Amino acid sequence: MPAGGFAVSAPTGTEFEAKITPIVIISCIMAATGGLMFGYDVGVSGGVTSMNDFLRKFFPKVYRRKNETGLESNYCKYDNQGLQLFTSSLYLAGLTATFFASYTTRRLGRRLTMLIAGFFFIGGVIFNGAAQDLGMLIVGRILLGCGVGFANQAVPLFLSEIAPTRIRGGLNILFQLNITIGILFANLINYGTSKIHPWGWRLSLALAGIPAFLLTIGALFVVDTPNSLIERGRLEQGRAVLRRIRGTNNVDAEFEEIVQASNAARQVKHPFRNLLKRRNRPQLVIAIVMQIFQQFTGINAIMFYSPVLFNTLGFKNDASLYSAVITGAVNVVSTLVSIYSVDRVGRRALLLEAGVQMFFSQVVISVVLGFKVKDHSEGLAKGWAVLVVLMVCIFVSAFAWSWGPLGWLIPSETFPLETRSAGQSVTVCTNLLFTFVIAQAFLSMLCHMKYGIFAFFSGWVVIMSIFVLFFLPETKNVPIEEMTERVWKQHWFWKRFVEDAEQEKLEAVVNNGKSAKEVESA
Ligand code: BGC
Repeated sequence: MPAGGFAVSAPTGTEFEAKITPIVIISCIMAATGGLMFGYDVGVSGGVTSMNDFLRKFFPKVYRRKNETGLESNYCKYDNQGLQLFTSSLYLAGLTATFFASYTTRRLGRRLTMLIAGFFFIGGVIFNGAAQDLGMLIVGRILLGCGVGFANQAVPLFLSEIAPTRIRGGLNILFQLNITIGILFANLINYGTSKIHPWGWRLSLALAGIPAFLLTIGALFVVDTPNSLIERGRLEQGRAVLRRIRGTNNVDAEFEEIVQASNAARQVKHPFRNLLKRRNRPQLVIAIVMQIFQQFTGINAIMFYSPVLFNTLGFKNDASLYSAVITGAVNVVSTLVSIYSVDRVGRRALLLEAGVQMFFSQVVISVVLGFKVKDHSEGLAKGWAVLVVLMVCIFVSAFAWSWGPLGWLIPSETFPLETRSAGQSVTVCTNLLFTFVIAQAFLSMLCHMKYGIFAFFSGWVVIMSIFVLFFLPETKNVPIEEMTERVWKQHWFWKRFVEDAEQEKLEAVVNNGKSAKEVESA
């Protein structure tokens, strides 16, 4: 999830006749609302938790601590489990919902799953906007999280199945772009509503209703994907829908391919057990490790808590909120850079360059904070404050053209068809799990580790860059069906897993007289 963009590329890379029909355009708008909704939820909580009216109502202890100078260390003003739960509960709920979502996307279809997501979102927005106590606030966040779990599974699948092959890759990063736009949108709204007293925060939370409503309406009106209809045995309906969305009657070849793919997928009785087989190890390890690394860049310390963080450094409320707007805008623009360069300079180059940039900026932040922000000091002087915001921007831009989109893109393009949907669920779950960990722990870590927290993240950046250098193969311009030959078999480390699998197959044939096919399906 996304978090993130999760479109799946064409299984065979074949190009079928397809027009960009109105249905395809509507589905792009759906992607926009699904991604916007997720991004808005990511971005809105930090700004709201830095607003005095909100703190006074729900977290009076934090409010007192924030406004009494001298008693508590600057770094610990916001260290409160309840406050972190307000942010993190969404991701925990999302993680749990993903398990159900993977069932409903298969059994009920993509469209109904999106509708379920829409209802959860609307419920969550109502609870949040009307919240009278912490309980209502958390219930609202949990409902939103369920929406995220269902939407992040169904929307990308829906998109990748409805879009013609030639625009699938672009749609993948488009989803990420919409997340960043959602975050920026939330930052801007927070900046505006913080001036409305005492209920500005309600407006911030309630405005998530707009993308939620659009997603729900969209899900009511679009058709389900041909793949989903065929998977559920409605062959003729699937064919009719395929004709409509492609704008041509000439769909027999694509129809046949979907039928075959869905038959093949049905052969895999235990998708998750299958994923654990040794031959699938390279993709599985890479998908899991990339999600953990993506979160340990420390990006969500910034996305969730930058207004709180800037406040900690002594910025006034207003300055904190507009600094968050600046970093949000940098995030959007840098994601565009990624769309442009990912198939030109390649994945590895982007990740390695970003590693250097992220390391450098985090070390500078850590050093400035170490020297200039003391436990009970007044906060940063203007020049230093500008330097910190600049470094945060340099960090965010590097993330946005590397680990942000690529954390999602690489797993989605390396899993072969037979493990793709299970692999996708594992990817989304791991991401949400570690997003939860950061959301729940960051403010306490800031309190205990102080400026060292950024040195901690920079250490992780070194580890992940070494991983990229030695273990992440380049997948630029490699069609999915050629991954084994051109990528895994050529890689110094991962090739042993592919070779072992082939060796096993061969031995079994020789020893037991079994056919290779029998061994394969065993
Ligand atoms: C990550 C999110 C993050 C966002 C920031 C996504 O790729 O999965 O956790 O908040 O990027 O733009």
